[in-house]
Amino acid sequence: MDKKKQIRLFDKQAARYGRRQEGQLLRSWRRDLLRHANGNVLELAVGAGTNFPYYPAGAKVTATDFSPEMLKRARTAAAGCRLDAEFVGADIEEMEFPNGSFDTIVSTLSFCSYEDPLRVMNKIRRWCKPEGTVLLLEHGISSNVAVAAALRLLDPLLYRTIGCHHTRNIPELVRQSGLSITRAESRLFKTVHLIWAKPGSSARGDA
Ligand SMILES: C[S@@+](CC[C@H](N)C(=O)[O-])C[C@H]1O[C@@H](n2cnc3c(N)ncnc32)[C@H](O)[C@@H]1O
Repeated sequence: MDKKKQIRLFDKQAARYGRRQEGQLLRSWRRDLLRHANGNVLELAVGAGTNFPYYPAGAKVTATDFSPEMLKRARTAAAGCRLDAEFVGADIEEMEFPNGSFDTIVSTLSFCSYEDPLRVMNKIRRWCKPEGTVLLLEHGISSNVAVAAALRLLDPLLYRTIGCHHTRNIPELVRQSGLSITRAESRLFKTVHLIWAKPGSSARGDA
């Protein structure tokens, strides 16, 4: 999908994201994951800032998104919970940070929308400090055959209407990038993945 069209789609969803009362499950997954964030944090595709209440005290967050409407809500959310945050409005697929810039890199529910998700995962590995932590809460294809078939069927419609693929193989993307998974949990018929990972000793270069 053309990027401008994708940004418009997310801009239109921003008010709903800003108001959204999430279910208990999603809230508990965010809490479990984000309590491991620390130091200089990069949050990719921050949306309306739904993760902000879960960051531990002392976290300093650089939050990125390409949707101006999402960023507007995220700024309000950061002020509401007194989070030390700065915002970068840009396409993460085109952005660069120096290697080893962040102690923690967070991505929740964003890998569904990238054109080239492996390229973004490779950036995460490079941007994270070697001893840092990558925290992911992502949805994708299930290892359950029936659920996977249903997701493949629905995928074209969902991508057209909400700009989001449902067939990404998240654990495989993490492995292909060279990140080392230190803990992984799957939920909801194995469509949702919570992953704790480290750049480790992988000596891969730019990708
Ligand atoms: C499904 S929302 C998830 C928002 C948030 N991470 C959360 O957990 O609620 C996806 C977000 O990714 C952003 N996004 C998608 N592709 C992007 C890209 N290439 N660069 C920057 N932001 C992007 C959208 O604007 C949207 O805010």
